[in-house]
Amino acid sequence: MCALKLRMENNNLSKLDKIVSLTKRRGFVFQGSEIYGGFAGMYDYGHHGVALRQNIVNAWMRTMRMHGKMAFLDSSIFTSPKVWEASGHVSGFNDPLVVCFSCHSKLRADHLLESVDVQADEKMSETELNELFDTNREKLKCPVCGKKNFGKVVQKNLLATSTLGKFEEEDEEAYLRGETAQGIFINFKNVLNTGFYNVPFGIAQVGKVFRNEISPRQFLFRKREFEQMEMQYFVHPRDAEKAYEDWKKERMQYYIDLGIKKENLRWKQHEHLVFYARDAWDIQYKYPFGWDELEGVHNRGDYDLTQHQKFSGVDFRVMDEETKERYIPYVVETSAGLDRTILAVLAESYDEDEMNGEKRVVLRLKPSIAPIKAAVFPLMRNKPELVKKAEEVFGALKKEIPEIMWDDNGNIGKRYRRQDEIGTPNCVTIDFETLENDSVTVRDRDTGKQERVSVKELTTKLR
Ligand code: GAP
Repeated sequence: MCALKLRMENNNLSKLDKIVSLTKRRGFVFQGSEIYGGFAGMYDYGHHGVALRQNIVNAWMRTMRMHGKMAFLDSSIFTSPKVWEASGHVSGFNDPLVVCFSCHSKLRADHLLESVDVQADEKMSETELNELFDTNREKLKCPVCGKKNFGKVVQKNLLATSTLGKFEEEDEEAYLRGETAQGIFINFKNVLNTGFYNVPFGIAQVGKVFRNEISPRQFLFRKREFEQMEMQYFVHPRDAEKAYEDWKKERMQYYIDLGIKKENLRWKQHEHLVFYARDAWDIQYKYPFGWDELEGVHNRGDYDLTQHQKFSGVDFRVMDEETKERYIPYVVETSAGLDRTILAVLAESYDEDEMNGEKRVVLRLKPSIAPIKAAVFPLMRNKPELVKKAEEVFGALKKEIPEIMWDDNGNIGKRYRRQDEIGTPNCVTIDFETLENDSVTVRDRDTGKQERVSVKELTTKLR
């Protein structure tokens, strides 16, 4: 596509559309099953998306380690169906569905009400939502066909089921996990029994989660298969409030450290609490489509361990060393969505500016999370002496900084544009002067300024 056409098309797109287009063009994110017309709520991460994702996970694991007394876990996606009965997800993990009888679109009733400024929440009962729906029926239009022909609001369970291990009619269906947290609760005793941890301590894990979302939307924001970075901190009930406040501060700082501006982050307390929570606050981000949840920080009290104790018969109590009484620990949970963090980081760093009289798109990613730390290229690819020297520099640098990239496609301007769109902080060019004095140019992504650096000092400079 010619540059002018691309520019004109780009001008008419919303910021979210531009991010979707950039991430596809540059190999961050692809629509799931695209060649078959897509599969709702699914996205695949490409080469640079995998690296960005991993850098964000690494930053998260680092903050968890820095807190101290943190065990890591990788529990199974499939568990005994009893886990989800005990946790309350089978009976209470619902979203309100309303069907448009004209075009058969399946819609979130609470979102539809909010779209006409009626305060609604997915945790409201069916009766409450139907009352709100009836009162506002005149104002409500299907966003797909524009008609006003809706059925009743019904709460639909979000757990996805599978036939894993089911061979006969009477065999139970297995659930894919709807949150990683349950894997942590059911392993609480195992971790405790390793003898390395005593309350207070945390268990953290990163993993896939599946939810039968009624209307997956807004790119990586609401998917049906997504990834969570969750941490459950087990504390004595008397220490839960303080731990909760401490974790809230740490979690907000994590996003600031990822490079998100404070003014694009805020706290929002839940008015209607989910069934397991005693208190719940969301960290919200100002996405291109408005403020919405990025992470949930919850005080889950002793709900989950009590439920699993009741259903499994296993004693989850621990000893209070001071009073010698046995108690079930409270849980402070920090529950971050990896895909939403990726979307927030992309939205935050996406920028359009002008450099040397040309419009460009640039991802101003913090270097620590940028997928590629530097690109190396020969000034011209048809000059064997430049290519040979560039290969030498690239080969040596790769051993020190593996996240670098070779790029000799197109002219130097095109290479800069391409690397700007990936968010590469520095480009290293091997030119004729390199052959004379063993120095290269290092170009800065944000300012476009170039600096001559000796090859000997290149690793230190890039680091
Ligand atoms: N264990 C608590 C829990 O799962 P949640 O608020 O349902 O709480 C936690 O989910 C986080 O998971 C959210 O803050 C969000 O970042 C992410 N998340 C939830 N549903 C999602 C979806 N459909 N697509 C992408 N991320 C999602």
